[in-house]
Amino acid sequence: MNEKILVLDFGGQYDQLIARRIREHHVFAEIRSYENTDIECIKKEGYAGIVFTGGPNSVYAQNAPSTDPEILSLGIPLLGICYGAQLIAHLSGGIVKSAESSSEYGKTTVFTSRSPLFEGIPAESICWMSHTDFISELPEGFKTIARTDKCPVAAMSEDNRKIYAVQFHPEVTHTEYGREVLKNFLFNVCGCKGDWNMDDFIERSVKEYREKLRGKKVLLAMSGGVDSSVTAVLLHKAIGSDLTCVFVDHGLLRKNEGDTVEKTFKEKFGLNLVRANAGERFLKKLSGVTEPEKKRKIIGGEFVRVFEEEAKKLGKINVLAQGTIYPDVIESGKGKAAVIKSHHNVGGLPSVTEFEEIVEPLKDLFKDEVRNVGFKLGIPKEIVMRQPFPGPGLAVRVIGEVTAEKLEILREADQIFREEVEKSGLSSMTNQYFVVLTDTRSVGVKGDARVYGYVAAVRAVTTDDFMTAEWTRLPYELLADVSSRIMNEVAGISRVVYDITSKPPATVEWE
Ligand code: XMP
Repeated sequence: MNEKILVLDFGGQYDQLIARRIREHHVFAEIRSYENTDIECIKKEGYAGIVFTGGPNSVYAQNAPSTDPEILSLGIPLLGICYGAQLIAHLSGGIVKSAESSSEYGKTTVFTSRSPLFEGIPAESICWMSHTDFISELPEGFKTIARTDKCPVAAMSEDNRKIYAVQFHPEVTHTEYGREVLKNFLFNVCGCKGDWNMDDFIERSVKEYREKLRGKKVLLAMSGGVDSSVTAVLLHKAIGSDLTCVFVDHGLLRKNEGDTVEKTFKEKFGLNLVRANAGERFLKKLSGVTEPEKKRKIIGGEFVRVFEEEAKKLGKINVLAQGTIYPDVIESGKGKAAVIKSHHNVGGLPSVTEFEEIVEPLKDLFKDEVRNVGFKLGIPKEIVMRQPFPGPGLAVRVIGEVTAEKLEILREADQIFREEVEKSGLSSMTNQYFVVLTDTRSVGVKGDARVYGYVAAVRAVTTDDFMTAEWTRLPYELLADVSSRIMNEVAGISRVVYDITSKPPATVEWE
């Protein structure tokens, strides 16, 4: 196992970011909540260093998040950030004060002194602050290594015990030399080598799962998305035909998507893949249904039924594999074992009690790391870089009742939009883009004939996290090309509109 850093989570908003920034230096970092990480567990894991995260509390508040003070004398280098810094001060006998007049928020000039933490960093630079409480009196043995106009101890250290604390946030990009601060901590202070990379990850995982799964039959539900695809290829490398992938094609995928998934994984990778073509079955269930949540429920329920039926046909299966990734683990259990990932929100998988074990080979990786592994495994770009696609598929992009005819119209229009965005070279402007088939009809004239077709809505959004999103300002020329191609090539559509609503108040999807 490579060296690893513990990111001890005290409820800060940037915890994941801290871990990602550390990993960018090729050092593995794992996030664990302070609540379920006791000192014995920390000793056992052999961490190269520990980072205390920020958090919304005050160290003197009742039930304020804390940890065993013994952590300060384990000989493991420590870096406290924001609340984490105050906690180190508090646990070491320093004093933390709260004063509105001392609060700092935003970009702030910081003056740093010589320290292993600040090597190569100018004496004056910009950092990102977000605090009201501050360290007003140093604990014994500590010295101040940075200050701002308002904050007397913007950073402190106890070099002998390798304990460092910064009031600012080195993990956010607004801190000019944040990257260097973390790098200095990892390499100057913790003595890390920085040898964690995706090639190693693949090699290690293949070895680990080959041993662990010897003689077992493993089942994976494949959706065509990045996570399950990467899981499939990785496990296939480890156990070959002992892995069976079931791909439930609910008939609600984009144009050619089901065929591409089947062809890629069966032919290119030689995977043992069962494609259940259940499109008609799903359409029957959806017949007459117009209410969005009802559509989702029906699709979720049916998905599980089809998956279970296919699994039964395979005989005895010992292990269920899942494409859980790190953010799923953190969100579902704050560092505890992952709860079962509801299959892309499609509605959950069969009862796990039927399996002896669940394996989640990607559970330590962030999305960009998963993509990286995907590329290294040779999975094509269109799958590795696939934009998010809702589990219920096009059913939530056909407004009103879902019919085969409407799905066909939508697929054609959506394909044109995707082709045009790709051709324009502007795909990096937008994080998700698609066409919605509204159930409104509109009059038009095509050729000499009067037509009464559907109104198609073109949607593109720019976002970091899909929690909030801006509508993407795609150039008029591109939109004009999309509109004219859809109008010319797709019978059944008589008008094209562009959705210029951000989230909030709108959602990304229309349903
Ligand atoms: P909304 O529409 O909620 O979408 O703003 C945010 C992101 O989530 C995707 N989305 C879904 N994904 N099952 C999924 O797996 C769903 O039911 C679902 N609904 C929305 C959406 O595509 C966007 O990326």
